[in-house]
Amino acid sequence: MRILLLGSGGREAAIAKKLSESPLCEALFIAPGNGGTMQYGANVAIKPTDFEAVAGFVESSAIDMLVVGNEDPLVAGIRDFFAEKNPGLKIVGPGADGAALEGSKDFAKRFMARHGIPTARYRSFTAADIDEADSFLESLSAPYVLKADGLAAGKGVLIIDDLAQAKASLREMLGGMFGKSSATVVIEEFLSGIECSVFVLTDGHGGYRILPVAKDYKRIGEGDTGLNTGGMGAVSPVPFADEAFMQKVEERIIRPTVDGLINDGIDYRGFIFLGLFNVGGDPMVIEYNVRMGDPETEVVMPRLSSDLVALLKATANGCLGDLAAEIDPRTAVTVMLVSGGYPGSYPKGKEITGCLNPEQSTIYHAGTAIDADGRLVTSGGRVMAVTSLGADIPDALAKSYAAADAIAFDGKYCRRDIGKDLM
Ligand code: AMP
Ligand code: GLY
Repeated sequence: MRILLLGSGGREAAIAKKLSESPLCEALFIAPGNGGTMQYGANVAIKPTDFEAVAGFVESSAIDMLVVGNEDPLVAGIRDFFAEKNPGLKIVGPGADGAALEGSKDFAKRFMARHGIPTARYRSFTAADIDEADSFLESLSAPYVLKADGLAAGKGVLIIDDLAQAKASLREMLGGMFGKSSATVVIEEFLSGIECSVFVLTDGHGGYRILPVAKDYKRIGEGDTGLNTGGMGAVSPVPFADEAFMQKVEERIIRPTVDGLINDGIDYRGFIFLGLFNVGGDPMVIEYNVRMGDPETEVVMPRLSSDLVALLKATANGCLGDLAAEIDPRTAVTVMLVSGGYPGSYPKGKEITGCLNPEQSTIYHAGTAIDADGRLVTSGGRVMAVTSLGADIPDALAKSYAAADAIAFDGKYCRRDIGKDLM
């Protein structure tokens, strides 16, 4: 198959590597890719949300399957666009109807309510119902969770300790703090528990496969302190997501989600990312995403022993059938190397040197580029994910930190405590 993968992060690097290892992969293109993805295929300078440009490339390069890595093109309706333009193209990723699970938190909450899927109690408000919103806040206890309804590049959730401050922030959100995305705000009950990420591949006809579970480390600082980031590292498997927990996840969340999509008339073929809280042994949904996680993919793909192209082709065809998703029992960890200053402002264009091809680890490029002089340089906040497989978390971590230490660029930072809470 000739495959086009959309995206440019560490997630796409991990998907690209896995796709490229399949005997079914005849040619792989990554649009736009990054400074490392050309190890797995050819980078193509196209923006994933420029559907006409994507369509032009699909045609000129005789692409058979489009794999959408990031949410923006999905929420903007890339599947729907191709359903008209090129109905023969296989696509991994939902249409705009299914992508609303990530594109609108209000839609996701209503979906969960309709299908009896456990999630935090909530209500949605616009500027017109500010008095009711205040009353709802008063009925909750601190901390208060305010979520912009629409996409906000992972920044649209505020967790606030003080009621007066929550009311003030609510007004700022409704007033355009996240542009149109926060014209509607979901206010929900605060849950306390530990988070994990569950990934499902579903074919739109009731078939699904559960991929390895991962735990992400979102805060910039050690001990989960400081600002939220896209993710500073990940571990898979997650010890507390044991068989009993995963059975509850499957019965209470995965099956009702897959069946709910079908009952709602949504032909969902692609990845579903369940952001879950383990609340005293019971799973609750914090959010749906309609793509894989980053950096979770950098630990999920190395543990998937089955052929990813075969799985994605079957997904796109609407028939996973009896195709297995085999999972490597070893532990995978990834440590993200980031630019100094991230998640605030940070410099770009810093040369990256050192060992980029370690024996015991895989370096997935994220925010990297090749500059005009042919040098590998930083081009984003999250620069590289260093993944290793090991017998257990300490074994895998030792390899990743050794490999991380052998890479150099100005301002390099990584958390030293990835996985420590699980050991
Ligand atoms: P989201 O963008 O919905 O994943 O929210 C970002 C982060 O906020 C999550 O990863 C959680 O750590 C936290 N969060 C979201 N909703 C809640 C909630 N209801 N209770 C506690 N923490 C939450
Ligand atoms: N690592 C969380 C996400 O991809 O949304």
